[in-house]
Amino acid sequence: MSSDPDTSPPRPELFDFHGVSMTHFFTDNWENVQKFQARPDDILIATYPKAGTTWVSYILDLLYFGQTERQTSVPIYERVPFLEIVVPSIGSGTDLADSLPTSPRLIKTHFPVQFVPKSFWEQNCRIVYVARNAKDNMVSFFHFDRMNVVQPEAGDWSSFFQRFLDGKMLDGSWYDHVNGWWKKKQTYSNLHYMFYEDMIEDTGREIDKLCSFLGLSCSDEEKKRVTGGVQFDNMKKDKMANYSTLEVMNFKVSPFMRKGKVGDWKNHFTVAQNEKFDEDYKKKMTDTTLQFRDEV
Ligand code: A3P
Repeated sequence: MSSDPDTSPPRPELFDFHGVSMTHFFTDNWENVQKFQARPDDILIATYPKAGTTWVSYILDLLYFGQTERQTSVPIYERVPFLEIVVPSIGSGTDLADSLPTSPRLIKTHFPVQFVPKSFWEQNCRIVYVARNAKDNMVSFFHFDRMNVVQPEAGDWSSFFQRFLDGKMLDGSWYDHVNGWWKKKQTYSNLHYMFYEDMIEDTGREIDKLCSFLGLSCSDEEKKRVTGGVQFDNMKKDKMANYSTLEVMNFKVSPFMRKGKVGDWKNHFTVAQNEKFDEDYKKKMTDTTLQFRDEV
């Protein structure tokens, strides 16, 4: 599937799927996904799209498997399969996960918590959830939808903004997603909930916390190597991490590794949009203890 506007197929439409907006690329394999057999040592990386999935995937991959030939020859979307995806150029996430040679297997999902296959809970798998403040998450999502032909049409910024507030995005409402996973953390202890903004503020500290959650003991030297290796500029240059090998993405429209910052929303939100957003946010986030920072 090509990202050339003259030859690429029409963009997928969003539809309601068990109360969540989805496209067929993420529901066509639903039965196999739901039947997926997780292993006790599988690690699930769960995020709302554009919250820092690739960053954390890369960190976990380096922590477990170090700097081997795999890192320089296998793209991140094959090292860390996307469980629910099924597109011609990538195949199905369940097949990729089933054929992963690594142990543990690192598996990624953007599902809201209620869609996660039950075997992950039954096997008590470790789960790393990454959340990002809604404003930056929205901006990153907008540019991603512009450049990726597998995603629904982004439309213009103001309509995208409204759609985000309405929760009509792939994988549903940001508000439901972050809160649903936050609530799960209260009853499921093998869930590490982390924030993109904390990673920006102090990547080393967040890697320490991850290691402690995963029961990994890393030497200072190794930690330094991982922290350095996963800096934005390094990952942006790395063909196996920056998605430049996937033809569904058009980097002329926007690169996958776009800015990697907290606060880029300020370059997109108008004053009126910001006021509207803040007012709406307060209403939607009243019943939660979850706190975000939209600047660091
Ligand atoms: P921006 O579009 O704001 O730049 P995901 O992997 O969930 O799709 O998230 C992608 C977002 O994470 C993009 O945000 C991307 O630039 C950012 N990102 C990826 N690697 C990063 C890194 N090493 N440091 C900071 N941000 C990173």
